[in-house]
Amino acid sequence: MAARIDHTVHIELGERRYPIFIGSGLLAAAPTYSGLPRAAQALIVSNTTVAPLYADALRSALQAHYQRVHVVALPDGEQYKDWQTLNRIFDALLAHECDRKTVLFALGGGVVGDMTGFAAASYMRGVPFVQVPTTLLAQVDSSVGGKTAINHPLGKNMIGAFYQPQRVICDLDTLGTLPERELSAGIAEVIKYGPIADMALLDWLEQNMDALRGRDPAALAHAIRRSCEIKAAVVGQDEREAGLRAILNFGHTFGHAIEAGLGYGEWLHGEAVGCGMVMAATLSARLGLVDDAFVQRLRRLIDRAGLPVVGPRLDARDNAGRYLELMRVDKKAESGEIRFVVIEKPGQAGVRGAADALVREVIDACCLRQ
Ligand code: NAD
Ligand code: GLY
Repeated sequence: MAARIDHTVHIELGERRYPIFIGSGLLAAAPTYSGLPRAAQALIVSNTTVAPLYADALRSALQAHYQRVHVVALPDGEQYKDWQTLNRIFDALLAHECDRKTVLFALGGGVVGDMTGFAAASYMRGVPFVQVPTTLLAQVDSSVGGKTAINHPLGKNMIGAFYQPQRVICDLDTLGTLPERELSAGIAEVIKYGPIADMALLDWLEQNMDALRGRDPAALAHAIRRSCEIKAAVVGQDEREAGLRAILNFGHTFGHAIEAGLGYGEWLHGEAVGCGMVMAATLSARLGLVDDAFVQRLRRLIDRAGLPVVGPRLDARDNAGRYLELMRVDKKAESGEIRFVVIEKPGQAGVRGAADALVREVIDACCLRQ
């Protein structure tokens, strides 16, 4: 099938400006990779699920540009986003005598993308890398903007670096093999952009949720383009999260507590974010910023996306206390005070602290009773 770029979105970062290509047949087409930094070797980093599906096609396309193209397939799962697995990328680079021009290609979802980016940031103090995201979540969020990291047992994404890719290749065809649960997890991050930045996107999602869940290519292309445009605008203004970029973490403070509290991999990241958005919207309502109708509207949409809207219990005796304890490890926390992304008004987000007692009320209202 001929390659077709439907949309190109640019991340504007001066000399580090780079494009996001969105389209069909891109992954296997050699021209997709023209103009990247020249090197003798390339390393495709993938995992044991995605490599059998797409690594051969990517390798063939890359062979037009690099003399030697290697593949390393990591174990699959959020629980492997750790030091030990990261080291397997360095092992492969060193075993193949890869020099500091070697280009890394992250082929997979956000876990592979975050780990490959971090490896690229640190191998020989930095080598170029390209994101080839194959989940919806990675295409609308994680592959874009240069946040790279691994998890620590005490906190998610705690060890990492800001390091931008050379290019992002979003091939819609790869979403055809994505399990339904993963598709829903990706839709969570698309929904996120509505309440924080673009209520027209929320309207569009209400009208097109069935098409999106049915993987209609035009609906997917629109959702990915609009998500990337919004993320590009935010990252272009605040690459290193001095302020504004924090709004992209709407739902994530509660969500990260769910992920860490249940054990990484139990709930998908997008599922935790979906439920976390209901909690953060509820907090916004209790702070008097939005009305209950807004919270219910968002909750209905998240439910229609096939995502959980009721929080799990993380502790049988003091559930809210456990959430609070986990949320204090959040990167936005300052001197132990948790900072929440809240909706200031529909389509606009901000970051605020909140009294523990109020947060406890929100958690009690949003979680399973027992
Ligand atoms: P993931 O990388 O675990 O991928 C989900 C699952 O889908 C995996 O089992 C994977 O092997 C499989 N898969 C991937 N592509 C497939 C395909 N085309 N067909 C079939 N199976 C496929 O999860 P994710 O949701 O993509 O990413 C979540 C991660 O992203 C989390 O670690 C999160 O912290 C991170 N994240 C990072 C950022 C950022 O800005 N860097 C933003 C959001 C999320
Ligand atoms: N996903 C949040 C960010 O990129 O800042």
